[in-house]
Amino acid sequence: MTQEELFKVLVAHCKEYGFIFPSSEIYDGLAAVYDYGQMGVELKNNIKRYWWEAMTRLNENVVGIDSCVFMHPKTWVASGHVAAFNDPLIDNKDSKKRYRADVLIEDYLAKIEEKIAKEVAKGRKRFGDSFDEAQFRATNPNVLREQAKYDEVHNRYKAAEDANDLAAYKQIILDCEIVDPISGTRNWTDVRQFNLMFSTQGSNTGSADDVLYLRPETAQGIFVEYLNVQKTGHMKIPFGIAQIGKAFRNEIVARQFIFRMKEFEQMEMEFFVRPGTEMEWFEKWKENRMKWHVALGMGAENYRFHDHEKLAHYANAATDIEFNFPFGFKELEGIHSRTDFDLGNHQKLSGKKIQYFDPDLGESYVPYCVETSIGVDRMFLAVLSHSYKVEQLGGGDSRVVLGIPAPLAPVKVAVLPLVKKDGLPELAQEVVNEIKYDFAYQYDEKDSIGKRYRRQDAIGTPFCVTVDNDSLVDRCVTVRDRDTMEQVRIPIAELRSMIERKVAMANLLRNI
Ligand code: GAP
Repeated sequence: MTQEELFKVLVAHCKEYGFIFPSSEIYDGLAAVYDYGQMGVELKNNIKRYWWEAMTRLNENVVGIDSCVFMHPKTWVASGHVAAFNDPLIDNKDSKKRYRADVLIEDYLAKIEEKIAKEVAKGRKRFGDSFDEAQFRATNPNVLREQAKYDEVHNRYKAAEDANDLAAYKQIILDCEIVDPISGTRNWTDVRQFNLMFSTQGSNTGSADDVLYLRPETAQGIFVEYLNVQKTGHMKIPFGIAQIGKAFRNEIVARQFIFRMKEFEQMEMEFFVRPGTEMEWFEKWKENRMKWHVALGMGAENYRFHDHEKLAHYANAATDIEFNFPFGFKELEGIHSRTDFDLGNHQKLSGKKIQYFDPDLGESYVPYCVETSIGVDRMFLAVLSHSYKVEQLGGGDSRVVLGIPAPLAPVKVAVLPLVKKDGLPELAQEVVNEIKYDFAYQYDEKDSIGKRYRRQDAIGTPFCVTVDNDSLVDRCVTVRDRDTMEQVRIPIAELRSMIERKVAMANLLRNI
């Protein structure tokens, strides 16, 4: 299966097993908006709990808040979002569809890269063990031609991006003869900047200055509450404020499933530090956040840092943690050293003094800030795409299993009476009563035991507990492990501690 096919299968699996549904599907859906189903919400909540507990429990100086989606409109002037939170968009006059100009160009570049990769693969096949990729790339005429084309367009694209030159974007699209994937034509409008913030009216007056924005990041809720939290929590710098919440962006590129959505959730932490110490903290948080990811056991090789060469105007350092998604390494989390840009601007615009008196220095300053920012939905996609496996079992049989890290699994244990009679359902209910206060569980008595195992594998349940006739006598049950499919027989009285050992969130937290 190619990675693209795998991704399609994963999207279908998410729907079939109640993880993710397209929003408003009975009305044919809404682009780039998705709902989480009965399994999805459990997995999502567990991801959020893993982050929240890692942030607020493992760091004595990080506390959490929950601020509102709506904020005073001046917030978004101070943050720079009103002036600069834009995407360069272009319309095709025939299909009437709108695209991100930068994405059209990036897709074009990706196609050239694909062509080069195909040439290299052909060369490898032809030359076998003696294949020298570096030499092949330096000498093969097809590769050289494509690489030259790539470099030329890439350089022009970066220059257009740096200069924010919208006419240059359009010229690249025309020169590269990029066509609309729907109409197939090159009948493009000029490129224009569109602000990504959704807005609505705050009251019924309808006046222009009464506009309310749906927050495009949760971070600003933290900045405007900085003073309240610092004072009421008697926080001493360095300290952090964490928050999980919805954010909204009018994303035009509606592909890649939940990777890029209009309504999504962020887990952000702003860490306030003494000016001049921000680089040290930036490095510490890079390391800390990578450990959080790797502790999940999804393979350290599937993560990498991507340092930003071009920094946003407010940042003096920035890196992404990229994950190996089915469509390649892409941004999962951002870590930014934001200087005093946000607090400083809020101080200016609000007229309120936002400063910290540092008792060790005997002076006041606007704190600097290091931010860690991860999308819940992207994390969800990372976990699911890594977990999805089709395993051959021999004899032509196979199973689909989600190897979700056990503490994140939506259902921890399934209780299955072997048959629906002879007192087995009653004993199974006793088992349920034994575990239901500690673990998310499912009770299932429908279909053969094999089919029930497959259903649990498909949603990633770490343990299946089968109650059989012997259980009535020896008060033992058979516990099947999702990953190894091995079965052990244990007393019902020991079930809770056995499950706990594998699914406790503390296991993950201890690994960080
Ligand atoms: N406060 C900084 C900030 O918002 P960002 O890089 O724009 O930075 C941070 O976003 C993270 O939020 C990203 O790394 C990604 O995981 C997630 N994210 C951003 N836009 C998203 C979208 N449209 N859909 C899903 N997740 C998104």
